Amino acid sequence: MSTPHNAANLGDIAKTVLMPGDPLRAKFIAETFLENPKQFNDIRGMLGYTGTYKGKEISVMGHGMGLPSIGIYSYELYAMYDVENIIRIGSCGATTADLDLYDVILATSAYSPSTYARELSGFTGNILDGDAILISEIEESAKTLNIPIHKGRVASTDVFYSDFNADAKAKYDKLGIIAAEMEYFALIANAQKLGKKAACLLTVSDNMVTHKETTAEERQTAFTNMMKIALEGNY
Ligand code: HPA
Repeated sequence: MSTPHNAANLGDIAKTVLMPGDPLRAKFIAETFLENPKQFNDIRGMLGYTGTYKGKEISVMGHGMGLPSIGIYSYELYAMYDVENIIRIGSCGATTADLDLYDVILATSAYSPSTYARELSGFTGNILDGDAILISEIEESAKTLNIPIHKGRVASTDVFYSDFNADAKAKYDKLGIIAAEMEYFALIANAQKLGKKAACLLTVSDNMVTHKETTAEERQTAFTNMMKIALEGNY
């Protein structure tokens, strides 16, 4: 059984899936960290692999950019492949000056102006919480590894090239938002509709207040801490 977007058969994908936006990062994670990685998807280049990490089966698959893209891939993983836990591992733009490049954020909730959750399940609010149990397991993993993390709300936006002006900054501060990314809200909406678990770890790749940014090459290799936290979790 496959879908229009995923060539895997039922049973090919682990209960827990780590999802970076970039499919080449999924390949990098599988080849660097997993034992015996087997590729289960290459439709549209959205590479997915299942292997083991310290003996435990785990999958990693790209989700693309934006709410609709992660919406499709994560819905299929939860609904058609019996996946229980999805942890997005991505990058974000910090919206507070005190967050530094490469800081790791454990995103507890997502604010979004998107209509994704309304269209999916009639939810008319703008804030969705990640799964508390999955989040606490990730927090434990970070503690065990002695890697510092920031916990907080993120904004899942539809527009990357938006004008982050003083009004936008004030609005985000009021809502307790510490960073902007483009997918978490849809992932949580899917998980909640289907009775599954969603969480999100992010590495700061740019700061929208101080305008510090990383290079693409630095991004590819500097996410090791975040990946280790996600891989070491006891899910
Ligand atoms: N905005 C949205 N998503 C992002 C950003 C950003 O500035 N940086 C990395 N992902």
